[in-house]
Amino acid sequence: MILVTGGAGFIGANFVLDWLQTHDEPLINLDKMTYAGNHDNLVTLTGDERHTLVVGDIGDSVLVSDLLHRYRPRAIINFAAESHVDRSIHGPGDFIDTNVVGTFRLLEATRQYWTSLSPGERSSFRFLHVSTDEVYGSLNADDPAFTETTPYTPNSPYSASKAASDHLVRAWHHTYALPVLTTNCSNNYGPYQFPEKLIPLMLHHALTDKPLPIYGDGQNIRDWLYVGDHASGIRRVLEAGRVGETYNIGGNNERSNLQVVHALCDLLDRLQPHPEGSYRRLIRFVTDRPGHDRRYAIDATKIRTELGWTPQHHFESGLEQTLRWYLSHSDWIARVTSGAYRQWLETHYTEENTPCARD
Ligand code: NAD
Ligand code: DAU
Repeated sequence: MILVTGGAGFIGANFVLDWLQTHDEPLINLDKMTYAGNHDNLVTLTGDERHTLVVGDIGDSVLVSDLLHRYRPRAIINFAAESHVDRSIHGPGDFIDTNVVGTFRLLEATRQYWTSLSPGERSSFRFLHVSTDEVYGSLNADDPAFTETTPYTPNSPYSASKAASDHLVRAWHHTYALPVLTTNCSNNYGPYQFPEKLIPLMLHHALTDKPLPIYGDGQNIRDWLYVGDHASGIRRVLEAGRVGETYNIGGNNERSNLQVVHALCDLLDRLQPHPEGSYRRLIRFVTDRPGHDRRYAIDATKIRTELGWTPQHHFESGLEQTLRWYLSHSDWIARVTSGAYRQWLETHYTEENTPCARD
């Protein structure tokens, strides 16, 4: 059995669903169910005895130790994190608590459990830490893509907290020989993504006739990866990654934010045309994100050549598949955009859809 943390969020839930489609190995899912954790993401697993959801915090050492000793997982995959850059700018505290202190406590509970295992179990055990390309900082237009040896230069409270967690994971291997693996992935998109992030936010706004707020000049570049490809990359690293190594995972799909929003509007124009004309008419340029990283790009040569992993989705087809999923899951969107989500929009976007001045 494996233990997954944060498995009710966007990527974690996609990973859990994919895992149980491709494996019979049971899975414990430890999730604090913050605003980003969603029971609806896992509803198709109702009654599936291979999946056990435990509501709790990775920073709760007593709970984590109890789970480890009770279920004796052969691996832990740590997705749990505060994940939204804009929220980290408004309030960094939760990011330090979960991403730094939470990861530290999880590592310590894991180390204590791992030490108690037999020599054979110890050598096959893995702690896989899911991280981000944002730890490498920001690239200029002509810079080469991030490799696993690019120095860390995190720029936001979110990326700094993820960088700190990566360093802790690395140190627990170097000092205590804990068998760790780290993955640093680019921007994901796909089903079950909370609509505070670019693609589902723009989609939700377009479908509700709200302006589409593009920060700055819209020329910031991200490398987009379909979430199912991220899940398969993690499975591959878990299976065959070399202990102590990090692996970059990326889609080789660099797009500016404006290109992404144009692509999304054009697809919607085809799939669900609006009587007043193209959804592009809703685009508005708004105040930039403070410290906004200009460009991310991933060099995924290592995972490709060492482990034979490549993404299966190209951006255009993956985006269409994603939009079709959201259009056919309007009940999921309706539930996720009530309550806490509305509060976030009011905090972050003013009536003119300008991100609030941070004073
Ligand atoms: P998400 O915000 O959608 O989900 C995070 C999940 O973690 C939620 O279910 C939440 O309830 C849970 N959680 C938060 N704090 C917790 C705690 N203290 N204890 C237990 N559970 C807790 O995030 P996501 O987009 O699915 O990202 C998952 C992981 O992948 C994160 O570590 C993130 O840094 C990383 N990542 C994300 C992307 C992306 O594009 N979204 C890209 C690369 C890496
Ligand atoms: O690169 C991996 C990272 O990708 C992950 O580690 C993070 O968890 C994930 O949230 C994501 O971070 P980004 O900041 O790149 O994602 P976000 O969807 O918030 O923004 C994508 C780009 O779109 C970014 O340049 C900011 C811009 N943007 C975003 C929003 C929400 C806008 O222009 N307008 C918006 O309203």
